[in-house]
Amino acid sequence: MRSIIDALDLSVEEIDELCAKALDIMADPRRYSRACEGKKLAALFYEPSTRTRMSFEAAMIELGGHVLSQTDESSSSVSKGESVADTVKVISFYADIIAMRHPREGAAQVAANRATVPVINSGDGGHCHPTQTLADLLTIYREKGSFSGLTVGVCGDLLYGRTVHSLIGALARYENVRFVLISPRELRLPDYIKNGIEYEESESLDGVLSKLDILYMTRIQRERFANKEDYDRLKDSCILTAEKMKKAKPDCCVMHPLPRVNEIAVSIDDDPRACYFKQAENGKYMRMALILKLLEEAEKDPSHIKKKGFSGDYVCVNPRCITATEQELEQEFKKYPDGTVRCIYCEAKARKK
Ligand code: NCD
Repeated sequence: MRSIIDALDLSVEEIDELCAKALDIMADPRRYSRACEGKKLAALFYEPSTRTRMSFEAAMIELGGHVLSQTDESSSSVSKGESVADTVKVISFYADIIAMRHPREGAAQVAANRATVPVINSGDGGHCHPTQTLADLLTIYREKGSFSGLTVGVCGDLLYGRTVHSLIGALARYENVRFVLISPRELRLPDYIKNGIEYEESESLDGVLSKLDILYMTRIQRERFANKEDYDRLKDSCILTAEKMKKAKPDCCVMHPLPRVNEIAVSIDDDPRACYFKQAENGKYMRMALILKLLEEAEKDPSHIKKKGFSGDYVCVNPRCITATEQELEQEFKKYPDGTVRCIYCEAKARKK
């Protein structure tokens, strides 16, 4: 039995299989309409969501399954102080699979370690968002026919934007993918994600737009800022207008995980290069494919895989990590290929005690 915390938990071969399955479902949805009969998905969403939660729910319903939904922290036992670990342990008795969104980085890994059914990370703070990446990858595949040889611009809040963190990791595994990282200095991509990728950085779209095959826009993540002044100063830093689109390639694919605030002018929606609404549709089919895969795997092998690390000399100092609020959780660490020691939950660099 396996959980999906980040897109990197899926191999490139598995991504190919999921794309093929999603396209197959899309071509003939009726063939899958009883595939999850008798199964239940628990949608545990402790942060706002429209697309991710509803597409998970629609996905399970269209597979013939049922949905248990928790959309509001104040109406759950979390508001009484219940831990993520206890919540998912209990939900495992009621549901066959859990999709969870939580404001704390690393919460999904805690859930995966404690649940006895597969957990799908649907966004853990500013950390990861693997199923958005699946939606993004299917969109790229449908528009470009391949993931290799692309110049991919990612623009906006690269520090807190969890969708770009997962997408860059996933795309970097293909041949000849170059990234153009477009953001204000304060919102640059974290170093651990830059590691091993081919990239250049720019503070504005102007000089770089013409070379992009993909332009992935993101909103500035207001809810992750410690103070409102910083958000106000940075909120309008990257805006794509119809005028700027004149400089883009004729087949540039413009993406956005949505919700958009003001970073893409509405007048671009009718441009054939605008792919962001298709992306939202693709997300439902990729979630159907993923639910099917994880439930099949769990049936074949129900044994539980726990991520383990070492404890002792290190401490996680990320204030947004789940271990900062759930203090009974033992902090655990792992040495990464780049030599750094990181928290196994939020992946932030650890400090030696
Ligand atoms: C994204 C998210 O929640 O991270 N939305 C989504 O799931 N489609 C992007 C965002 O909120 O900016």
